Amino acid sequence: MAKRTFNIPKNFKIGTSASAWQTEGWKGKLENQISWADAFYKAVPERWYEGYGTAVATDFYSRYKEDIAIMKELGLQSYRTSIDWSRFITNYETAEVSEDALRFYNDVINELIDKGIQPIICLEHWELPDYLIKNYGGWGSKKVIEFYLKYVEKVFEAFSDRVKIWYTFNEPIVVPMLGISEAMWYPFKSDYKEFMQWNYNKVLATAKAVKLFREKGYHNDGGKIGIIINASPTYPRSDNEADKAAAEMAELLTDRIYMDPCILGTFPGKLIETLKKHNCLFDYTADELALIKNNTIDILGINYYAPRRVKARTSKWNEEIPFSAEYYFENWSMPGAKMNVSRGWEIYARGLYDLAMTIKYRYNNIEWMVMENGMGVMGEEAHKDANGVIQDDYRIDYVADHLRWLFKAVEEGANCVAYHMWNFTDNVSPMNAFRNRYGFVEIDLKDNRNRRIKKSGHWIKEVIKNGKFEY
Ligand code: NOJ
Repeated sequence: MAKRTFNIPKNFKIGTSASAWQTEGWKGKLENQISWADAFYKAVPERWYEGYGTAVATDFYSRYKEDIAIMKELGLQSYRTSIDWSRFITNYETAEVSEDALRFYNDVINELIDKGIQPIICLEHWELPDYLIKNYGGWGSKKVIEFYLKYVEKVFEAFSDRVKIWYTFNEPIVVPMLGISEAMWYPFKSDYKEFMQWNYNKVLATAKAVKLFREKGYHNDGGKIGIIINASPTYPRSDNEADKAAAEMAELLTDRIYMDPCILGTFPGKLIETLKKHNCLFDYTADELALIKNNTIDILGINYYAPRRVKARTSKWNEEIPFSAEYYFENWSMPGAKMNVSRGWEIYARGLYDLAMTIKYRYNNIEWMVMENGMGVMGEEAHKDANGVIQDDYRIDYVADHLRWLFKAVEEGANCVAYHMWNFTDNVSPMNAFRNRYGFVEIDLKDNRNRRIKKSGHWIKEVIKNGKFEY
């Protein structure tokens, strides 16, 4: 088929994403500065692929200048990462700031700005201090919201003169879902009501952080604050009522439990009714709901990898949980659907367009950014050319396909202003460690974690330079 040219829309930025715990390593941290991710790794290092974990990660703490120089070489326009709460604070109850962390994050932010790259900061990308999990029960406790706000206030004071885009949480549902409801991740619990409390408390914490941001006047010179949601366009298997109801419920219990209150100010009635019916409604007060209503976000972040395909439940498994849906993966017959074999995830670029339309129509076309989208691949070393450069044509295809659907949405009025590929260099993920490689830049684990730009990195450089690509 003849190739077509796709132009980057006006004022649209292209960057990459990462997080503190997946890149920095433990250098500079005190022994008791342990994040949720560190605690997970320490609890079961043998379950992390080949034992790689958060201890060294990509050693960004020592090598950030080298990484930022490569970002500049590729022409990347923004970099989203997080502040590691467990590193930034030394006393989690009083919010004493670590001098070393203050210096480190100042250096990183200044270096990015110096190289013409916009820093975008997430305040919690799964770096909840383990101390708050052990002593207070983590996000299940409203006390933790107070500690979070003290920490957030210190971060705003330190960096808001240079950082203008903030996000309260990254994929806030994932750790509670896998760690509190499904016992697969640390702290390995299985309590659905508690899981719901974690979600609600993160929504409330977001509204309180928005309120603080506003009251302190950080909006005044262009500051914006939001939340990053791993939203998936949700498709019922058929038009049959049971499949449609299951899809609706799946979306309510995952994406909409955050998006509705954070963007529109209220939880969906049907969600509340269902949770009540199944005795797992979170504890809330009328004052809190009013606060949520009055402090909605300015900007949304979306992480999109794969669609959610749903059918009505056929088994009796876990019937007491209101999760009345079953996901299915066997149908790749949708036009344009492919498969990422490494992850077992469907690739469906059109899903990003569908999501953009949902944001446009259901969520008042709020301003948003793609905060993650990318392709994790196992065994990339096998794709090296004679010069040792990974020939990741599959990643180029993936990014180009998603960008063209995103640009189509922008042409049709979607308010998306930036695309961030996950991620800049390969980095560690929970348990998968370095198994699935995502970067535009390789981390060579056999050779001192050296950085080498992959074919896709050279490709994105040309795309940004020329303002267009062919697909
Ligand atoms: C989502 C998370 O935000 C990030 O931490 C993770 O590594 C990527 N997805 C890749 O799976």
